[in-house]
Amino acid sequence: MKNSCLAICYVLTLIIALICIVAIAVAEEPKTDYMVLVNKQHLLPDNWPETVELETAHNSFDDREFLVEKEALKAFNALREELLTEGIDIELDSTYRTVEYQQELMERFKKEYGEEYALATVATPGASEHHTGLAIDVCLIKDGVVIDENEDMIAEREIFAKVHEKLPKYGFILRYPEGSEEITGYGFEPWHFRFINNVDIATEIYEKQITFEEYLGEV
Ligand code: DAL
Ligand code: ZN
Repeated sequence: MKNSCLAICYVLTLIIALICIVAIAVAEEPKTDYMVLVNKQHLLPDNWPETVELETAHNSFDDREFLVEKEALKAFNALREELLTEGIDIELDSTYRTVEYQQELMERFKKEYGEEYALATVATPGASEHHTGLAIDVCLIKDGVVIDENEDMIAEREIFAKVHEKLPKYGFILRYPEGSEEITGYGFEPWHFRFINNVDIATEIYEKQITFEEYLGEV
């Protein structure tokens, strides 16, 4: 009897110790900071890659493969499904980017559109939200045609207004709203959505028509 009591105590102690070890390990695991600010003044944090889980995704019209932070991808798919029921087709166009890819993009834009336009529209490598995996650029499919050029998308105001209205419900914000160049550092990008994983904050930002910088007091 005495021996069996001791054995039970021993097993219980072992179980409690194991639970504690697992709890400490989970608590110490770096978590994704969905509210991270990345802009011209705030570069991507050095430990970012260890804190984020990227998943592979595809769009429906070409063979490109995309990487997106896992919760952001879930939310984007749900947003897309809801929009499809209203006849609006948004597709992935640019998501996670490495610093090297951002450098290539900058060079390409400089060659194609000139230095001034490139610097006004493409973030310098290390300063792009796309490095986080939390930013999604979309394109539109309208009457079977892919609309992915910046100026063509800016012209689709009505459609994008309907899309932007739904962003907060899925934890996204419009990162570069019209007229906020002085604050965000970039012109209107109706296609660039940023996942913050917080419906209340996304709703507040949408309703107050403020930028992420203003919400964070980082103007
Ligand atoms: N177009 C945005 C600013 C970027 O390159 O990250
Ligand atoms: Zn973008």
